[in-house]
Amino acid sequence: MDFNELSVKCRTYRKFTQEKIPEEILMELMENVRIVPSAMNGQVLRYVLVKDPQLVAQMQPMIHWAAALPKELGTPKAGEQPTAFILVCKEGRGNAWADIDMGIAVRNIALNAMSHGIATAILGAVEFPKVTSLLKTPENWAPRLLIALGYPGVESRIVDVPESGSIKYYLDENKNYCVPKRKLEDILLVK
Ligand SMILES: Cc1cc2nc3c(=O)[nH]c(=O)nc-3n(C[C@H](O)[C@H](O)[C@H](O)COP(=O)(O)O)c2cc1C
Repeated sequence: MDFNELSVKCRTYRKFTQEKIPEEILMELMENVRIVPSAMNGQVLRYVLVKDPQLVAQMQPMIHWAAALPKELGTPKAGEQPTAFILVCKEGRGNAWADIDMGIAVRNIALNAMSHGIATAILGAVEFPKVTSLLKTPENWAPRLLIALGYPGVESRIVDVPESGSIKYYLDENKNYCVPKRKLEDILLVK
C-alpha cells in the first residue's frame, strides 16, 4: 500500500471482524510509537496494550461510539466489536505539548495498523475512570485517548461535503461509512 492509499484507507472503523490480530503486529505498533517525535523529546506518553479477550470484552460498554449516528447504527454489536485496545496516557503532569504529542502518536499507530490491513478508531468519549480501574493502570498515568483495533468489518470512504455544508459522517444503503472532507482549496492557501 503506498502512502496515498494508506491515508485514504486509514479511516475510523466502528465494526470489526473477530479475527485475532497477530501478537507481532501489535508489538510492532508499540515499537514504532516508542520512537515518534515528541516536544523537547519529552516522551511523556504511556501506553496500555489490551489484548486479553476478557479485558477487551469488559471494556466494550465503556465506549461511546459515533455521536453523529443513532446508537443502534453507530455502536458495534457482539461479533462486531474491536478485538484489542491501546490506551494512551500522559505520565504525571506531562508538559504543555502533551496533547500534540498524543495526536502524532495515535495517527502513527493508526497508519501503522492499516499498513497491515488492520482498522482502528481513535476514541475520546470513553469512561476513562472505569477503564483505568479495570486495567489497574499506575495512578500517575492520566488517560486521554483509547484506540480500538480489529480487522475491518465495514467500509469507509471519503465523499465531498454536500451543498448543505454538513460535515456529519453518515451510512450509505449498505451501512458503509461516508465521511465528508472539505476540498483542498477550502483549507489551503499556497503563496
Ligand atoms: C481525538 C479524536 C477523538 C475521537 N473520539 C471518538 C469517539 O469517542 N467516538 C467515535 O465513535 N469516534 C471518535 N473519533 C472519530 C471521529 O469521529 C472521526 O475521526 C471523524 O468522524 C472523521 O472520520 P475519519 O476518521 O474516518 O476521517 C475521534 C477522533 C479523534 C481524532
